[in-house]
Amino acid sequence: MEVSIISCSKPFAFIWTALLLSSVVGYRPVIIVHGILDGPRQFEILARFINESHPGTNVTTFALYDYIASLKPLWQQVEDFRQAINSIMKRADGVHLICFSQGGLICRGVLATLPKHNVHSLIFLASPLAGQYGDSHYLRYFFPKFIKTRLYHICYTGWGQKVSVCNYWNDPHQRERYLQSSNYLAPLNGEIEHVNLTAWRDSFLRIHILVLIGGNDDGVITPWQSSIFGFYDSDETVVEMENQDYYRKDAFGLKTLDSRGAVVKCVVPGVQHTSWHSNLTVYQTCIDKWLT
Ligand SMILES: *[C@@H]1O[C@H](CO)[C@@H](O)[C@H](O)[C@H]1NC(C)=O
Ligand SMILES: *[C@@H]1O[C@H](CO)[C@@H](O)[C@H](O)[C@H]1NC(C)=O
Ligand SMILES: *[C@@H]1O[C@H](CO)[C@@H](O)[C@H](O)[C@H]1NC(C)=O
Ligand SMILES: *[C@@H]1O[C@H](CO)[C@@H](O)[C@H](O)[C@H]1NC(C)=O
Repeated sequence: MEVSIISCSKPFAFIWTALLLSSVVGYRPVIIVHGILDGPRQFEILARFINESHPGTNVTTFALYDYIASLKPLWQQVEDFRQAINSIMKRADGVHLICFSQGGLICRGVLATLPKHNVHSLIFLASPLAGQYGDSHYLRYFFPKFIKTRLYHICYTGWGQKVSVCNYWNDPHQRERYLQSSNYLAPLNGEIEHVNLTAWRDSFLRIHILVLIGGNDDGVITPWQSSIFGFYDSDETVVEMENQDYYRKDAFGLKTLDSRGAVVKCVVPGVQHTSWHSNLTVYQTCIDKWLT
C-alpha cells in the first residue's frame, strides 16, 4: 500500500467520529520512543494530536536516554526501553508504538527481544531503518573533523560501536567492514547470520501493522528512503525495499509482513526531519488511523 498526500481531510468530521468511537471503545495506549538528541518535550504536540483525535488515550513518552545520553550504544538503550515498554504493555490489551528517527531502531531491538510483546501498530517516523550514510548537521556535531567517506575508520571499530550513530552507520563502499563490525543494524536486519535470527523474526512478526513514514525533504536521514527500508548500493543508487537482500530473503520478517498486506508506506514531501512529529498533515495522513 502506498499513501500520498492528495486530498485534504476534514478535521471536524474526523474529530467528531473519534469522539463517538471513544465513548464506545477505549483506545490502546500509545508509547512514543524519541530520537537522537531529543526527549519527551519534543513530542508534546504529537501527544496533543493523539489526545484530540482519540480522547482518553494514555500516551507515554519515556524520559530515557534523552539528549546527549541518546548517543549511548543502542543495545544498552534497548535494555532500559524494553523494561519501560514492557511495564505498560503488561497492563494493556495491546499497545501502539510510535518510534521517531533513531528511536525506530531502538524499537526494533526491543521487539526482536521481547517475544511476548503485544504491539499492534508499529509506526516508524523518519527512521534510518536501513542505516545512515550522510553528513547531516547531526553528524558534524558528533564528528566535526570527519567527513562521511572516512567515518568508517571510527565507526567500524569496537570503540566506534559504543556510539549510537555508528551502530547504524552503513557505508555502502565498505560493505565487508560494515558486516564485520556493525553489532546492531547488521544482525537486526539479518544481513549476517546469527543464532537469534529466527527468534527475532518470530517476535517482530507479532505486530499487526507496520507503518513506514518518510519523505525526500527530510534533510537528515540519508538516503531518505532508508525510512522506508530502501538504501544505497555501492554506486550510491537507491535500491528500494522490495529489491533489498534482507527483503528477498525475508531475513527478519519484512517480506512476510508485506505479503500479509501489513506494510504501509506513507511518503510525504515537504517535511523536514525535526518537523515530522509536530506536523498535523502528517499525523492525519499517516498516523491517526492506526491508533485505534
Ligand atoms: C486531553 O484533552 C482533554 C479535552 O480537551 C483535556 O481536558 C486533557 O487535559 C487533555 N489531556 C492531555 C494529557 O493533554
Ligand atoms: C497511563 O499508563 C501508565 C502506565 O501503564 C500508568 O502508570 C498511568 O496511570 C496511566 N495514566 C492514566 C491517566 O490512565
Ligand atoms: C542472542 O540472544 C542472547 C539472549 O538474548 C544474547 O545473549 C546473545 O548475545 C544473542 N546473540 C547474538 C549473536 O545476537
Ligand atoms: C506539514 O506537512 C505538509 C505536507 O507535506 C507540508 O506541506 C507543510 O509545509 C508541513 N508543515 C510544516 C509546518 O512543516
